[in-house]
Amino acid sequence: APVAAVIPAAGRGVRLGPGAPKALRTLGGTPMLIHAVRALAASRAVRLVVVVAPPEGTTEVKSLLDAHALPERTDILVVPGGSSRQESVRLGLQALPPGHDIVLVHDAARPLVPVDTVDAVIEAVRAGAPAVVPALPLADTVKQVEPAAAPGEPEPVVATPDRSLLRAVQTPQGFDRATLVRAHETVTTDVTDDASMVEQLGERVVTVPGHEEAFKVTRPLDLVLAEAVLARRRL
Ligand code: CTP
Ligand code: MG
Repeated sequence: APVAAVIPAAGRGVRLGPGAPKALRTLGGTPMLIHAVRALAASRAVRLVVVVAPPEGTTEVKSLLDAHALPERTDILVVPGGSSRQESVRLGLQALPPGHDIVLVHDAARPLVPVDTVDAVIEAVRAGAPAVVPALPLADTVKQVEPAAAPGEPEPVVATPDRSLLRAVQTPQGFDRATLVRAHETVTTDVTDDASMVEQLGERVVTVPGHEEAFKVTRPLDLVLAEAVLARRRL
């Protein structure tokens, strides 16, 4: 069955600092969004990519996509995004034509995800999982804290969850389309990924191995790392 991908790219990138919207910032001279579209289109199963652009930037995003080579088999749609990632993904889902039973959701801010990771997610959905997330073990120990009593006061630590049972999750996350649409129609609480909405429906979410090159470009140091990974690939 053909696979569609929704790429939320409508964020401003506040944590990256001043400049163009994050998805339009360049890596190796090419906008991060173009890297992300190519990374998904590299999978032969992916036939349609819906790019969710900054609301004021759809024209610019369309011309960028026209100006960069993409596989012939890949159709591209551009739609304006919303004020949260969740809303942007929902707007992308609403633009999906019929005929794609598997949907990937992938952050434009993860431009370097390897195609093997994309394919592993698709395979796991094809094997019957309604929702699939690429996941990695954590390097850091994680503490749960309570809010500080007052600004400037220390945050009391209340717990240290067993790290061996924690995972950092990435994108693309893969879904049975009907399940993902139902999740976005039903769940109204604030969430930071799509799989958690499917969890709230009580549906099964499973992991596949993530990849360290699928990291999210969030802060300035991440740009340094992304440039280095790209340079290493081009050797
Ligand atoms: N995103 C989106 N629409 C929004 C907010 C975020 O499509 N209203 C997208 C971003 O463009 C990004 C992905 O969701 O590809 C992951 O979000 P994040 O890394 O948080 O990006 P930003 O929200 O742009 O960054 P920041 O939170 O630092 O402002
Ligand atoms: Mg954000």
